[in-house]
Amino acid sequence: MQIQKPKGTYDLTTKDAYQRTYLENFIRKIFDSYNYKEIRTPTFENTKLFKRSIGEETDIVSKEMYSFNDGEFTLKPEMTAPVIRAYVENRMFNDAPHQKLYYISNMFRRERPQAGRFREFSQFGAESIGSGEEMADAEMILLADAILNEIGLKNFKIRINSIGTIEERSIFIISLREYLIGFEEDLSNDSKRRLVINPLRILDSKDPKDLEILENAPVLYEYLSEDSKKHFESLIELLNSISDKLSIDYKLVRGFDYYTSTTFEFISSAIGSQNALLGGGRYDMLAEHLGAKPTPAIGFAAGFERIEMALKAESAIIPDGSELLLYVCSAGENPRSRILQIITSLRSKGIKCETDFLGRSVKSQMKEADRMKAKYVIVLGDNEIESNSAEIKSMFDGSVIKIEGLDKIINYLKDED
Ligand code: HAM
Repeated sequence: MQIQKPKGTYDLTTKDAYQRTYLENFIRKIFDSYNYKEIRTPTFENTKLFKRSIGEETDIVSKEMYSFNDGEFTLKPEMTAPVIRAYVENRMFNDAPHQKLYYISNMFRRERPQAGRFREFSQFGAESIGSGEEMADAEMILLADAILNEIGLKNFKIRINSIGTIEERSIFIISLREYLIGFEEDLSNDSKRRLVINPLRILDSKDPKDLEILENAPVLYEYLSEDSKKHFESLIELLNSISDKLSIDYKLVRGFDYYTSTTFEFISSAIGSQNALLGGGRYDMLAEHLGAKPTPAIGFAAGFERIEMALKAESAIIPDGSELLLYVCSAGENPRSRILQIITSLRSKGIKCETDFLGRSVKSQMKEADRMKAKYVIVLGDNEIESNSAEIKSMFDGSVIKIEGLDKIINYLKDED
């Protein structure tokens, strides 16, 4: 029997892989212009790291981790905890008081697979570590916005909220639980369970009955201190250049215990129910929790798969590597060694060219050139090699030009549409 890929994983074959690499390189350049530096961490970490930072009661830690070696290690479900672990372990705070880091890596979560939700998926993300100022929040959100815009997405909105400090939140959770207990019988099963272990997550529920009950629930923002509110209001002011995309959503809590203060999500209106392209927030206590001195920080991560779905839905054009500048048709056996020399020399100058490897007729090589979307075609047979001249045909307009000197082919190739 044929062996298939595990559920919730996917292959990227040629064009898709080219587009993924294109997007990765594009995004790296934007990170670089914002002066973010790359960080790489292991594929698996000590399970304790995720339990301690994401939180034991969260869906990710309680249900979705791929753990092995008797539970000692876990494939990383996200990058914030590993980055902060590496920041603390490598004493990166000694290198600079404010570190701006980015990553591109695969993550693993045992979720129920569906469109836009995989068990192995790829994220790019950034973490700005060391600054508690609104400027750092603003830069992070503007960076995320710039990336999505520059790769060609148009139909997305930003939800933003502040969930305050851990103390502010814990007072709110008591009130929220008290309120919800009055409706316990009517809550969805998921929310009933969360009422005991993590009531904050009920705010995220999409169940219509839950939503009705939540309409009159206490509002977290009202439990924030003046300082927390001031931070949030100043941030909103700093984001005035993208204010048409922003909407304040007092119910946005996100599924990680490490968050404090600002939280945000970028939502696409072009894809289905898994419509969060990107999510992030402040986590001012995490570094301290993992052994550093108090170090405020903020970050985001985005999923390539959902971004690619949205790009497709919005008909954005991403190069797929299928274009070829020159196809060299071989007419007969003799010219083959000269053809190999010619294409090797062109390739050494960065010219993307191809020839035939299947001993096909000139006619079927021409068809192949067309299939490969070659911009130019040249036919080399005994006569051409002997006379050191040939005709080069432009596939955009059908024009033919005579070339004198086969080592000058490069001068006749114009790489434009
Ligand atoms: P997250 O919201 O869990 O946040 O994930 C960020 C993005 O990763 C999501 O918006 C989504 O695009 C993508 N994603 C998450 N799970 C899946 C999945 N199963 N399949 C496909 N795509 C998925 C975090 O991971 C935080 N570490 C973000 C962060 C960084 N906060 C502060 N710094």
